[in-house]
Amino acid sequence: MELRGRRVLITGASRGIGEALAEAFAAQGAQVALVARSADALERLAGRLGGTAHPADLADPTAVAGLLARVEAEAGPVDVVVNNAGYHEAGWFPDQDDLLDAATFQLNVLTPLSLCRQAVPGMLRRGGGHLVNISSMAGFVPFPGLAVYGATKAALSQFTAGLRADLRGLPVGTTLVEIGPVPTDMLSEINDYRPAGDAFGRMARLQLSVDAPRELVADETVAAVRRGTRHVRLPRRGAPFAMVVEAPRRLTEVLLTGVRHRQD
Ligand SMILES: NC(=O)c1ccc[n+]([C@@H]2O[C@H](COP(=O)([O-])OP(=O)(O)OC[C@H]3O[C@@H](n4cnc5c(N)ncnc54)[C@H](OP(=O)(O)O)[C@@H]3O)[C@@H](O)[C@H]2O)c1
Repeated sequence: MELRGRRVLITGASRGIGEALAEAFAAQGAQVALVARSADALERLAGRLGGTAHPADLADPTAVAGLLARVEAEAGPVDVVVNNAGYHEAGWFPDQDDLLDAATFQLNVLTPLSLCRQAVPGMLRRGGGHLVNISSMAGFVPFPGLAVYGATKAALSQFTAGLRADLRGLPVGTTLVEIGPVPTDMLSEINDYRPAGDAFGRMARLQLSVDAPRELVADETVAAVRRGTRHVRLPRRGAPFAMVVEAPRRLTEVLLTGVRHRQD
């Protein structure tokens, strides 16, 4: 998809990877519509990039309901949705609490599902669109302290694969972004929980992982949307793990060739 003049909604755009995504999409001439809780940071970034700011708490289902329609009423039709906002909940599982689990699942899974559901009909009506879900290698590599976070990312990755099957043959693309450690606030908070930090350190010493700069994640994601590529995997040395997980999905796609993707 040519991005010049297209509108891209990015969640979690106030800092970290989301901020880099906003800069990278804007650099391609896209109009960015930015969502996160920190209104001031969003306004500043939107002002700098010529986009729009839409402050919202995406862990609150009432704020998520109808969000895309409100953004479109203010900014115009959205061509690309990037579900990037996320929370990690790193810690000793028995000490974590059910309410935080529910909020994490809402933010990391249910909100992206809802935004995809809100976006698809308009994209189909207008003849095209693209959905990007920012997932994690923690969705298929179990790290101590990240059981809940990993479960949310596994859900998001599998959802994206299933959504792709639903959208087969239709002009709405999907990109699943599966990344390892990226230096941001989130990574330093995860590293503060020693078992998780030590696990990341071990993977790095084994040369199986290396930090990816957020700008690289953003550039590769933008390139994937432009080319219609279904996956971004960084660091590249982690890609073989992701491909093993992906193998049964690809095989199923081949096995189901010709099966209708939608009941009339
Ligand atoms: N950093 C890594 O190593 C890494 C690795 C794999 C995957 N990821 C994934 O990449 C994505 C971005 O992570 P990051 O490292 O950039 O995290 P970050 O630096 O902590 O930034 C998180 C972003 O999400 C927003 N956010 C958090 N809670 C929110 C809520 N309740 N409502 C609305 N927005 C909310 C934050 O904005 P406000 O606080 O202003 O709301 C912020 O813009 C996440 O999905 C994460 O799981 C990160």
